[in-house]
Amino acid sequence: MTDVGIVSTGHSNYGVFGKSAPEMMGPVIEQCVGSVDNGLDSKDVDLVIVSAVDNQFTNQHQTGALALRYLKNPEAEAFRVEAACASGSLATYLAYKSIKFGTARNVLVVGFETMTHLSTRTATSVLIRGGSPEENIHGITQPAAYAMMSQLYSDRYGATEDDYALISVKNHENAMHNPWAMFHKKLTVDDVKKSKMVASPIRLMHCSPIADGAAAILLSGEPRKYTDTPVYLKGIGMAHDVLGVFERDDPTSLKATKKAASKAYSTAGIDAAKVDVAEVHDAFTPVEIMIYEALGFAERGQGFKLLREGTVMRNGSLPVNVSGGLKAKGHPIGATGVGMMVELFLQLRGEIGERQVPDVETGLVENHGGTGATSIVTILGR
Ligand code: COA
Repeated sequence: MTDVGIVSTGHSNYGVFGKSAPEMMGPVIEQCVGSVDNGLDSKDVDLVIVSAVDNQFTNQHQTGALALRYLKNPEAEAFRVEAACASGSLATYLAYKSIKFGTARNVLVVGFETMTHLSTRTATSVLIRGGSPEENIHGITQPAAYAMMSQLYSDRYGATEDDYALISVKNHENAMHNPWAMFHKKLTVDDVKKSKMVASPIRLMHCSPIADGAAAILLSGEPRKYTDTPVYLKGIGMAHDVLGVFERDDPTSLKATKKAASKAYSTAGIDAAKVDVAEVHDAFTPVEIMIYEALGFAERGQGFKLLREGTVMRNGSLPVNVSGGLKAKGHPIGATGVGMMVELFLQLRGEIGERQVPDVETGLVENHGGTGATSIVTILGR
């Protein structure tokens, strides 16, 4: 079957810009199609898939048709997809399948979100829709839902406030080397522990921020025609759990991520031990520990030891969220999953500058929606 590879990318800064949908998405599309090593006729792109989560954020319908304006190929087909925070990976998943099954040759994936024009109160009322209808009715916000998971995890496995703080410290330190990141501010464990309480035990410095941003990748079924150094999608798996934290068998376990990882590892023919670097969905930093366990990086209830031992630090044996993660790079919802692919594309090509991890052969992206009802895991390799 056809190998699918990423051949070029585009990425904006993440932050507070107050820009419109066209202002956010146009430049990353032009950057992506304009930076193909061996050149690209935009007529060769037959499909565009846009990831943008909510019209109250983007203020724009038919974002697919809008994307064609910047691709400069009105003959391509285009549509938009949504799976809350996992939308960017869902768009990538559909692009991969379209090429694999021969319905498209080259697919442009564009993710973007414009969130910061809304107040925190209004943005929260939009983001809450990523949970179950029951949580929604009872006002369980995203931080509150993650707080329940984190409190239960601490009670059961003994992760401490310091462990949770260490993830924020790590990701903020990493973001210092990422010019696209929203925050360039180092934190100490104390800074995190003294920050404003949002939903106990989640504090301000555990939260990903409300952000604007955009990213794009071009996938091809003939990657070597367009570049000598493509990055291949070796495996991609999608899986689900029930929407509500309250209705899960075990709210401290990311069942969907575990199932998605198993599918992705199996397609790629590898196991967790082969992963050199990972970008994961630290929407609220304590969850990063649960992700380590779901991906098989650590045993159940042991994930926090990877932090204490330094394994997941930038100079550790398995660096996680070298970009700064959602916490410090930022989380413009529709862009996030696509931005994670861009990060690993550049890591695997050795083109990421200061934050380059040495000898990277295999990278992993974990991107989940809401508190993990949809999860998509992608394995990338050279
Ligand atoms: N991390 C670090 N600093 C943050 C921050 C974050 N997540 N969010 C805001 N700040 C900073 C701002 O830069 C600002 O700093 P300044 O005073 O130096 O300018 C200050 O905190 C106040 O910003 P403000 O926007 O008023 O904060 P807020 O209290 O209204 O919002 C949160 C903070 C955490 C409630 C908001 O960022 C949030 O809801 N995040 C989660 C988003 C979400 O749920 N995403 C989906 C995940 S599944």
